[in-house]
Amino acid sequence: MRKITEDTLTDIVLETISDDADPRFREVMLGLIKHLHALALETNLSKEEWLGAIEFLYQTGKKTTRNRNEFILLSDILGLSSIVDMVSSRGNDDATPFSVLGPFYIEGTPFIENGGNLIAGNSGKHTLVKGRVFAKSGVPIPNAVMDIWQNAENGKYSNEDPGQDDNNLRARLNAASDGSYSFTTIRPTPYTVPEDGPAGVMLEKMGRHPWRPAHIHFKVSADGYQDLITEIYPDDDEYIDADAVFGVRDALTVSFKQTASEEEAARYGLKSPFLTVEYDFQLRPI
Ligand code: BEZ
Ligand code: FE
Repeated sequence: MRKITEDTLTDIVLETISDDADPRFREVMLGLIKHLHALALETNLSKEEWLGAIEFLYQTGKKTTRNRNEFILLSDILGLSSIVDMVSSRGNDDATPFSVLGPFYIEGTPFIENGGNLIAGNSGKHTLVKGRVFAKSGVPIPNAVMDIWQNAENGKYSNEDPGQDDNNLRARLNAASDGSYSFTTIRPTPYTVPEDGPAGVMLEKMGRHPWRPAHIHFKVSADGYQDLITEIYPDDDEYIDADAVFGVRDALTVSFKQTASEEEAARYGLKSPFLTVEYDFQLRPI
């Protein structure tokens, strides 16, 4: 009869996974079981703590809906989403880094013209964002679809604030055939991740704050290239080194420069001076 002890149980469980199981599934499950067992052994996990963790996951499931996925938020605040982003960009060091999608993305936002205006009735510092979408070695990618979303001056996204129109501060646009794009918006503001669920409890217990530095979200898509989900961050934001979800990368921080170009002010219908952000996106081939 097999001797099941602290020292033998991990291997006994690992051996139960069939050699015929899907190889990738097998690899990930072997790692998961190994690490979970090691965690319990190393920390002398008590039954109460283990049941507490199960209850926490149950509450996380209860809080989760299609529109509010508390598991994703948990993964974000524990840095797991960012680790997965980094793993998937290995070998593509020059390409624009991925960053967290977050819970506020809405599919199917209406298109505006390249060069169009997201400011509408929003208060906030007027900002011109412009740059290019290109592939390795600087070759422009023509007609990429850019999906853009950000928060308003009160820190809220349109889908968490009944006071905003559904598509406020969101748009899709087609970059030009030479890869160039531009749009006008307001400077985004820092805000707190949702704290009214188990992820908020977790932050509190860890003694952490819930703030994210200001950012503009982008999803950039083009035929033959991987979708790029990312964010750009004003480099002078007070939370730039303290993002609650670890989304900031050096290559995603950018200067929101005070600009006084009368020519651009007239072209984009802005009052001078305004802020200018120049940012180029490099996509990864499929
Ligand atoms: C966001 O940037 O929208 C976000 C990302 C992760 C968690 C919460 C919000
Ligand atoms: Fe965000």
